[in-house]
Parts: sequence; C-alpha cells; structure tokens
Amino acid sequence: MIILGIETSCDETAAAVVSETGDAARPWRVRSNVIASQVEIHREWGGVVPEFASRQHVRDICGVVERALDEADAGWPDLDAIAVTQGPGLVGSLLVGLAFAKSAAAALDLPLVPVHHLAGHIESLVVDNGAQPLPAVVLVVSGGHTSLYYVPAEGDYRLAGRTRDDAAGEAFDKVAKLLGLEYPGGPVIDRVARGADDRAVALPVARITHADRNAAPELARPAGYPGKLGGRTEFSFSGLKTAVKRHVAARRTALGVEALPDAEVAGICASFQRVVVEALLDRTFEAARWFGARSIGIAGGVSANSRLRADAAARGAAAGLPLLLPSLPLATDNAAMIAAAGLRNLRAGRTGALDLNADAALPME
Ligand code: KG4
Ligand code: ZN
Repeated sequence: MIILGIETSCDETAAAVVSETGDAARPWRVRSNVIASQVEIHREWGGVVPEFASRQHVRDICGVVERALDEADAGWPDLDAIAVTQGPGLVGSLLVGLAFAKSAAAALDLPLVPVHHLAGHIESLVVDNGAQPLPAVVLVVSGGHTSLYYVPAEGDYRLAGRTRDDAAGEAFDKVAKLLGLEYPGGPVIDRVARGADDRAVALPVARITHADRNAAPELARPAGYPGKLGGRTEFSFSGLKTAVKRHVAARRTALGVEALPDAEVAGICASFQRVVVEALLDRTFEAARWFGARSIGIAGGVSANSRLRADAAARGAAAGLPLLLPSLPLATDNAAMIAAAGLRNLRAGRTGALDLNADAALPME
C-alpha cells in the first residue's frame, strides 16, 4: 500500500508519501516528506494569524503535493489512498487540505482517510523508531496541545490527562515574546538557556488541587493497579507564564531598562524551561507507573527541546522504560506522520465519505 498524506492544520503546508514495508517491527517507509513553512510570514505578528495561514495554504498546497510525489518517484496512479488531517486545528487551514484531499480522492476514485492530528504525532514515534512496546504512555506536547495518552493497543489512543489552560509550546512562545525573543519561542529559549543557571529564578510549579469540570474521563486502570489517577496527569502553564511576566516587569523597573541583560534573560529561560520539563516528565512518568506501561513516548513540537530529551532519557533509563522520541523533522508538524496514521486507519477500515468536514475540536474517539 502507498498513501499520500496531507497536513494543513496550522501554519505548515505538508505532503508526504509513505508505503508499507510488510515488516510489523518497522511497518512504514517514508518515501518523501515535504513541508512549506509559513513561519517567516507569521513571525512579523508574533504568532500565527489564521486568515494568513489559510490563504498561504491555498497558494502552496498544489506545489507541495507535486513535490512530494516527485521526491517519492511516484505518480498519482501509484497511490492506494489519500490521508488528510481532519482536526483539531485552525478550521480555515484544515479546510484547504481537506478540500484538496477530497478532490483528489474523488477524481482518482481512491479511499479518503481522515486522520486526527494527535494520532499523527503519536504515530511519528513508530515511523522513526519502529513498533512501540505496548501498553505505552505517550505525551503529545506542541504549540496547541499538551495531552497524555494511554495506548493499550496499536491505533487505540485513550486520553489520560491534558492541560487546563495553555499548551507547553504556547507557554514557551509567550514567555519568549515577553522577553523580546523571536517567534516561535521554543527553539530560541532552548538555545538561549543552554549553559545558563536553571535555578536563577524561583518559579512556581502548578499544583492541581481543585476538580476540573471539563476533565477527561477517568480511565480504568489495568487489573492489579487500584486507585484513581485523578488530577495527577493534568497540566497548567498559565500561572507559570504570569510569574515570569511579573518577574520580568519587576526586574525592568529595578534596573530601569527596557530590555534585560542577556545573561539575565538566559537565566530566566533556563529556569522556565526546567520547571516546564519537570512538570511534563513528572506527570508522564506518574501515568506510566499507574498504567504499568512498557514504554514511554514523547511527540509534538516541544519534543524537539534538548533539555526535555536529555531529562526524559535519564528518567527512562532510571525507570528501566524504553523512551521513544521522534527525529527532529518529525517532531514538528509534518505529513509523514499523517500518512502513517492514515495507513493504520485504512488497515482498520476507518475511511471517510466525501461529505467529511473539518473539525477544529475533533475528539480522538
Ligand atoms: O507540533 P508543532 O509543530 O505544532 C503544533 O501542533 O502546535 O509544535 C510547535 C510548537 C511551538 O510552540 C514551538 O515553540 C515548539 O513547538 N517548539 C519547541 C522547540 N521546538 C519547537 N519548544 C521547546 N523547545 C524546542 N526546541
Ligand atoms: Zn502538531
């Protein structure tokens, strides 16, 4: 089977061709993975402007798909199906990919395979590392999401916790902005924090003490693991962002400057990054213990973070749990992961009709 994957949920126009290998341990081969990034367009505004994003997707989609086919040395007649991100994401952006995928599927009489964006991030781990030891606990952490999934079987993703406010990547981007650093802030903070004192500033770690009215349903723990998971896998980053904002404002006033000295900015970045990474890993490893997971995965844009990668590797080794991370090109949004998740859906008979619509808040089930 050969599938074309299309991803336009946010600000990257992406297309990829992925084929099945027939080897269950390494099920997929990425034959091409093309991404047209809009980051230069949105940088001027300090964040993604949805209207600009959809317009740019319209300009880029045909060329990106043609390049993906060219680089895979494939033509339209070689394809067996077309996979596309149905949601969650920016609805105007999603619609461009979906309209393209539906037209191609209709014209070529091929199955249309809808994919959940976060299922794509989870499958990026299998694309890069091969089949994951199950059950697994996977943290998907990006600019739009911070969610923990329990994965008892291939293609079965159960929400076990999520952020109550900002996503971790969003917190990176907002803290970078208030420090006067460029968008997107994650990679910049990662770079600036390198070698700086990660205890330069005392920042609060969010403790979830009250019940969430929108909480994810409590998952049944496998036999032999009593108790409730409760709020131990929920995240909150908006208080941390506010604490950094207050600290920066106080230091500006104290020094009588507009921009803080570089060394001080580096200390703030390192301290902020340490607290975020600790919050992410504490909950991920807690969930892994609770579910009796046989492996841990971390996917999504923030999984590119060097401190997160190093600390996760150390904790995984200490816990005796294999840790799966995506390669850097598959950490941020891409279509290879959508194509792979599409192959998984296609094999399970999960295809879509041509009246399929984009869903900005698509649930996983
Ligand atoms: O997965 P992604 O490309 O898009 C979404 O689905 O949101 O993730 C983008 C996010 C941005 O917030 C960006 O700042 C963050 O991932 N990011 C990082 C790093 N590289 C990207 N955050 C921390 N450290 C990094 N090295
Ligand atoms: Zn994403």
